[in-house]
Amino acid sequence: MLAGKRILLIIGGGIAAYKSLELIRLIRKEGGSVTPVLTRAGAEFVTPLSVGALAEAKVHEALFDLTAEAEMGHIELSRSADLVVVAPATADLLARMAGGLADDLASTLLLATDKRVLVAPAMNVRMWQHPATRRNLAALRGDGVLTVGPDKGEMACGEYGPGRMAEPSAIVAAISAALCAGPLLGRHVIVTSGPTHEPIDPVRYIANRSSGAQGAAIAAALRDLGARVTFVTGPAVVPPPAGVSVVAVETALEMADAVKAALPADAAVMAAAVADWRVANASVQKLKKDGSGKAPVLEFAENPDILAMVAQGARRPRLVVGFAAETTDVVANATTKRLRKGCDWIVANDVSPGTGVMGGPENAVVLIFEEGTETWPRMGKDEVARRLAVRIAEALR
Ligand code: C5P
Repeated sequence: MLAGKRILLIIGGGIAAYKSLELIRLIRKEGGSVTPVLTRAGAEFVTPLSVGALAEAKVHEALFDLTAEAEMGHIELSRSADLVVVAPATADLLARMAGGLADDLASTLLLATDKRVLVAPAMNVRMWQHPATRRNLAALRGDGVLTVGPDKGEMACGEYGPGRMAEPSAIVAAISAALCAGPLLGRHVIVTSGPTHEPIDPVRYIANRSSGAQGAAIAAALRDLGARVTFVTGPAVVPPPAGVSVVAVETALEMADAVKAALPADAAVMAAAVADWRVANASVQKLKKDGSGKAPVLEFAENPDILAMVAQGARRPRLVVGFAAETTDVVANATTKRLRKGCDWIVANDVSPGTGVMGGPENAVVLIFEEGTETWPRMGKDEVARRLAVRIAEALR
């Protein structure tokens, strides 16, 4: 994804600096090269030795370094890159960038560069929320600086909230979006998401506990990689992401129609928890107790299987990805499901009550391919989405 791209990576002084080591590894794995710059504060958290070893490159630290100046001046250093990335970008570094200071190598490079700059802020919640940081960030965005993160979560200092540096894979996705205008540029992907509501009468319906979080995260991640996304969503708790084309539906039948109308597509990701049955004898009037003590009898009809319909249809997208929410024998059930539905991949997960996956922020998935399976560790749904989007981009390459 980053083949031949040169990244000038400025590592600021925050506890998140340790993640920059993984970032270097991922950039290089994607085919990019890294020229590392370690600020004095950054060197308190990671050593030049580990940074240099992972980058397999000289680590630049001092502004006035005669050898470095003879080999490659600091102006040249800031210009020979394709993109300048600051990770972690501390509150102090952002302030110095916003103020146009040039009192060390990192700030001088940032002032002298003619390339785009991507920052991954990382700091304490209060520092992140402070009006000074808000002002600095607004100024930097106005200058065209790109940002990724921060994430919300438990922080090293024990507080909770926004301020955690984005995960390295998210930074790599942002780098790729900044450099390549996205590997999915020009691709159309349909994503289904959320539950469906199957009416019993005008006021009652049958639903399930899907929040739509995973589907929304997938749509956002695909969008970030440049895809044109049609997001067909049932009545979800999590709002749809910005920058995607939203088709809001209620029932499985409506969802099937919306998906058909959205074809053709390069890929379809069916993350919706579609109701298997609808009430065949749904009442047009509100059902009432009639005093006889007899409960109404609901009759069910099977809903169309949207995933199977798309995967086996004439206008089949090149890549069709289904989900399998299971409570037992996850891999075995998902493997047969992949074959039965005719899709290329199944993202399988265990949604037993104890897992907290249904409606929760995290997911633990197993990917089922024709060639075998791949188990991902438990991680945030956003992270699952980003990894999946990267895999989809690779498959459509
Ligand atoms: O058969 P099951 O519901 O377990 O399969 C789950 C997968 O199939 C999900 O990808 C879901 O979005 C899709 N599905 C569908 N239409 C249905 C039922 C499930 O698209 N009626």
